[in-house]
Amino acid sequence: MKRFTLVFAVLLLLAGLTAWYLPASAQKVPRRVEVVVNMLSDSPEDRGFSRITFYMEEEGYNIERQVVTKSSGGFYWYWTNLDENGRLMRLTRESGGSYGGYYKYIIERAQNYQDYIYRFGKNGAWLEARVYPPNENAHANYQKNTDTCKNCHSTHYAQTSQLLNSSLVFELCMTCHDGSNSKYNILAGSVIVPGGAAVPAPAGPYSSAVATSYHNVFREGTDTVLLAPGGEKTGLKCTDCHSAHVLQDQTKPVRSSSFRLLKYFRQMIPGGSVYDQPPVIAYSFITASSYETVYISGINEFCSECHERYNYGQNLNPKLPHYPTHTLRTGSSGGIQKSGDYYRHPTGINIAEWLKVPISLPLEDRGTGGKFMTCKTCHYAHGTAIMQGYHYDFERDKYDQTGAPLTRSTMLKRCEGMGICLECHLDIWYNTPGAPIQ
Ligand code: HEC
Ligand code: HEC
Ligand code: HEC
Ligand code: HEC
Ligand code: HEC
Ligand code: HEC
Repeated sequence: MKRFTLVFAVLLLLAGLTAWYLPASAQKVPRRVEVVVNMLSDSPEDRGFSRITFYMEEEGYNIERQVVTKSSGGFYWYWTNLDENGRLMRLTRESGGSYGGYYKYIIERAQNYQDYIYRFGKNGAWLEARVYPPNENAHANYQKNTDTCKNCHSTHYAQTSQLLNSSLVFELCMTCHDGSNSKYNILAGSVIVPGGAAVPAPAGPYSSAVATSYHNVFREGTDTVLLAPGGEKTGLKCTDCHSAHVLQDQTKPVRSSSFRLLKYFRQMIPGGSVYDQPPVIAYSFITASSYETVYISGINEFCSECHERYNYGQNLNPKLPHYPTHTLRTGSSGGIQKSGDYYRHPTGINIAEWLKVPISLPLEDRGTGGKFMTCKTCHYAHGTAIMQGYHYDFERDKYDQTGAPLTRSTMLKRCEGMGICLECHLDIWYNTPGAPIQ
């Protein structure tokens, strides 16, 4: 016993000394990272590749990159400080040109339509840069000597108080995300992959031609009242869910996740405490002909910002202080409890012990090797193109893109008909292993 106490005390002392030796101020990230993407020449061997240069004003930062792999159906991801050839990545000094005196890191041959996720920092603090060659990211890592702001803002002749070029956010986003100036075509729900094809994108389609239900962002600026089922949020626009910029100050009420710039909030709760919603953490896994996403954490909390009553199981949202939580049943008791006026399917629970067959629906790992069910397990985020399995009963009135009342909806579901239910309940009808069907 005594020996352990001593070891513990020494460890504590060491930790204290290290903290004293490396004060929080030694943790440092660059003030900003500017990114330049140049297409390589059009010769046959260079076609389809770009050069990426990261610039920062000071030296001395470590560099890491994100690696995502897939083997036997499972995803693995990690940060490494080695480049693709196994060499330590280091900053070098730029000698001339408009970035003369800056420090840079160059990726000489970057595959177009791959995602390049790098981070720069000192002593455990990092600033992330997500680069998507051949395009320059319109939302981050702006270069000082280009005029990218004017894609969206006007200095003296703007349409909104945020100095935007368009009075409707939707129209502004569509100047690029209709398939013209980004690899993501939000209307078709497609993304371009390195082989050059457009494949289904993770969020699903928005276009009325293919989508049989969608998060209606088309009524922005009108007086149609859209209410979030299971919550109180009214109306919807792209920037209710996404930020247009990287918002990284953790003390501010709105921050942006590195993944898809999804907004997450910091809220003061009456009584003085603070609810810190977590960011959405996820990475893309892209091959020459496919585009997949590894969901790690934060989706449930994200959707529950607006649909809070549907999050039966996890319930971290302080808007519902008295709602029951739920963990996967292992004994014979403790069935689904009433949350508010209704009983609801569990969402935030780990089903690793329950699920014996692999399923195609996305589950969250949460960094613990778990298999957590989230809203995304059953739903798309933007819209769905399924043709079977309409629902006719709604908790709230619904309207279509034109504002006409909707009588049926496929509810953003991932599979035709009852396909999502049968992915999991094809042979498991009861939850407690070995318990009789009631
Ligand atoms: C892709 C479009 C786009 C580009 C490019 C862009 N912005 Fe923005 N910006 C927006 C949108 C949309 C908002 C409103 C965000 C919101 O409501 O969440 C915004 C908000 C802002 C705000 C905050 C305004 C407020 O309400 O407090 C500032 C400041 C800003 N942008 C500056 C810039 C600068 C400087 C650049 C160029 C370096 C730039 N933006 C480039 C779309 C863009
Ligand atoms: C000037 C063109 C332009 C405009 C306007 C624009 N985007 Fe983008 N957006 C891009 C580009 C370029 C990318 C990077 C991916 C790529 O190569 O297409 C991107 C990426 C994104 C991503 C994925 C980010 C990530 O890191 O995975 C989201 C989300 C997004 N845009 C949302 C919006 C929203 C919301 C608006 C309107 C407020 C908007 N965009 C307006 C060009 C634009
Ligand atoms: C209700 C919230 C919500 C609204 C509204 C919304 N998005 Fe998204 N968007 C998401 C989420 C969540 C994802 C990530 C989906 C995934 O990975 O499964 C996403 C993904 C994206 C992507 C990456 C491509 C993809 O398919 O994953 C782009 C680009 C994007 N959104 C742009 C937009 C634009 C532009 C609008 C407005 C027309 C918009 N979003 C409206 C939540 C929303
Ligand atoms: C910023 C608020 C907001 C967020 C975040 C949000 N939603 Fe919604 N959601 C709404 C609103 C408002 C409606 C009603 C829109 C309508 O009637 O078209 C809605 C409607 C829906 C519908 C019904 C669609 C239909 O056609 O009847 C589903 C399903 C849904 N949301 C799922 C989700 C999922 C899954 C997420 C997380 C990926 C999410 N929502 C995140 C606000 C939000
Ligand atoms: C097990 C699959 C599953 C999960 C998990 C799930 N949903 Fe659903 N959701 C459905 C189905 C199926 C419907 C269609 C209505 C029905 O069958 O009762 C639906 C309907 C909805 C609707 C429209 C409700 C209406 O009747 O107007 C919203 C909003 C919604 N879900 C949001 C969410 C959110 C937010 C989460 C996460 C907290 C979530 N869902 C988790 C399967 C799921
Ligand atoms: C990702 C896997 C998954 C999907 C998809 C799924 N379920 Fe479940 N379902 C579960 C788990 C796990 C439980 C049990 C939770 C517990 O007992 O703690 C459950 C519980 C239930 C229960 C309660 C049974 C009881 O004995 O308490 C019903 C009923 C049910 N699901 C119906 C559905 C329907 C209908 C759908 C399609 C809309 C669906 N499920 C989709 C995993 C899933």
